[in-house]
Amino acid sequence: MDSTSLNQAFEEIFKQQADATFFSPGRINLIGEHTDYNGGHVFPAAISLGTYGAARKRSDQTLRFYSANFSEVGIIEVDLNHLVYDSADGWTNYPKGMIKFLQEAGHVIDTGLDLYVNGNIPNGSGLSSSASLELLVGIVAEELYQLKLERLDLVKAGQKTENDFIGVNSGIMDQFAVGMGADKRAIYLDTNTLEYDLVPLDLGDNLIVIMNTNKRRELTDSKYNERRSECERAVEELNKKLAIKTLGELDAKTFDEYCYLIKDADRIKRARHAIWENQRTLQARKALESGQLAEFGRLINASHVSLEHDYEVTGPELDTLVHAAWEQEGVLGARMTGAGFGGCAIALVARDKVGTFTQVLEKIYTQIIGYAPAFYTAEISQGSRVLSRKH
Ligand code: GLA
Repeated sequence: MDSTSLNQAFEEIFKQQADATFFSPGRINLIGEHTDYNGGHVFPAAISLGTYGAARKRSDQTLRFYSANFSEVGIIEVDLNHLVYDSADGWTNYPKGMIKFLQEAGHVIDTGLDLYVNGNIPNGSGLSSSASLELLVGIVAEELYQLKLERLDLVKAGQKTENDFIGVNSGIMDQFAVGMGADKRAIYLDTNTLEYDLVPLDLGDNLIVIMNTNKRRELTDSKYNERRSECERAVEELNKKLAIKTLGELDAKTFDEYCYLIKDADRIKRARHAIWENQRTLQARKALESGQLAEFGRLINASHVSLEHDYEVTGPELDTLVHAAWEQEGVLGARMTGAGFGGCAIALVARDKVGTFTQVLEKIYTQIIGYAPAFYTAEISQGSRVLSRKH
């Protein structure tokens, strides 16, 4: 969408002109999965699929929200002084949470707004449609109320919305990637210190193909929270002899020597994934920077194996796509991306093989799973931004 069509759509719904238009991307994660809440490294990138918005400041205390993705529910009205979670309010819980936490952090948002939203990230696809929306609302508030904010403040408010308003105990990766993304760059982030580097994503003649299982990530939230507590429990057990805050502090050798302290086979597997995946992420960055693309691809494959067998967050749909991808000519590597349990996987595929690749995978997947997957080529994009302002 461009600003002109966003402005038109806004006017049709709210019968007024918008003050500004906005875009906030989704994200893929190259490697470093389920490491962010374990104090490890992640390596995501913002993509050109995302959430568009147009907004206008009001002079009263009413927030009015409209999403073209949920047009059947029409405009949802909320009182600025009553920002509480209500499952009946659906998608608007994300904007409510963001505005509430920005206010609580001392930013003055003392009048309402009208917000039109239109996203092209398939819902529940594991490409962070929720972080995309959270950061969109963040930059809308920053712009309309002229807030003095660091980008990291918005990233943290987004994570807080997810954790304390929606109730998913997620890490900071998604909001960070969406907020901090840069053109043709991946974000190498230490989730423990929040230090990060923007690493040129030079894949030679290869493209990143996003493979959507078209299976919605149901149950994700409860399983996600369960994995997180399994890891926390493992840390407690390891601390009978060690003094660590997160699994990200351990290297593979130390973990091997002390894993006897963990008294449950599943928890050993979860911890092993978190620790090895963190190590793989460090190696993957080096491989990418030194142009060792074949090694980069193998690390990506290894990440999937570990997510499938140790962390157990894949499922038949993701495994079917990824296993089939590994068999194809011109594929450097493939793995699930995001939380798992459905959603999307990524594959690094030689540019001239992408056509055949998607055809063959569509056939295999449809035969086994019973419905078709979808494919998109990832373009790596800048983080959340203002598109245009009225004069
Ligand atoms: C979801 C969460 C992230 C991260 C990934 C798994 O996307 O929101 O914080 O934990 O899952 O890597």
